[in-house]
Amino acid sequence: MIIAPSLLAANFGRFASEAKRAENSGAEWLHLDIMDGHFVPNISFGPEVVRVIRPVARKMEFDVHLMCSKPEILLEPFAKAGADRMTIHVELGERANDLIWQIKKLGKKVGIALNPPTQIGLLEPFLKEVQLVLIMTVNPGFGGQPFIHETLTKVQQAAEWRRDLNLNYRIEVDGGINFQTAVECAKAGADTFVSGTGLFGAASLRSAVAKMRRLVTAAAAPGHFKFETPIEAPISR
Ligand code: DX5
Ligand code: ZN
Repeated sequence: MIIAPSLLAANFGRFASEAKRAENSGAEWLHLDIMDGHFVPNISFGPEVVRVIRPVARKMEFDVHLMCSKPEILLEPFAKAGADRMTIHVELGERANDLIWQIKKLGKKVGIALNPPTQIGLLEPFLKEVQLVLIMTVNPGFGGQPFIHETLTKVQQAAEWRRDLNLNYRIEVDGGINFQTAVECAKAGADTFVSGTGLFGAASLRSAVAKMRRLVTAAAAPGHFKFETPIEAPISR
């Protein structure tokens, strides 16, 4: 189980120390929400912020979520700034294929995200190409929104495909994730939990991360998910 605090809920006046706090919390990933004021009605931060915090949170995997209409102009800057994986939205339509290819060419892991109103079936052509499926559990753009329960069936579908097709992408949930909704998502098959206000808003980030991990680990059905394996599995001869 991976816990990914979202920097969007951190104190924007102190990005570096907040990133350090996230690393010290024991969370494996730092979720970085990139908003362009066009794909979503808000603007967050860009590659320079990522570059500055990279050295202070060396151990964390930088999980860049691109809520952007033109991610193609940002892939290289984020790759250079220190992203480990980049997630683009399936709502970009037929451009998604090329974007996935470009992210791979930069040597980064790839994710594909789906908004609550979007049909889950649109993800199907990409399942074999990605290391992460991000099911948005709120409409993207702002932190602190309430979890949309109807998205749980999408998490279940993503888990079913993973099992049936014998794939190993992670299933990440993002938006309105707190102790209670994280458990619901874990039961549905999620294994990667983004949480902004739910974690950064807690009195102790470290205890909140530990508690969320404990709860989702206990909630997940045994054998329900598989951990991500290396992209190129060694061939046994
Ligand atoms: C929403 C972002 C989320 C956001 C979640 O547009 O994609 O990652 O940070 O924030 P909370 O956990 O506060 O809903
Ligand atoms: Zn996000």
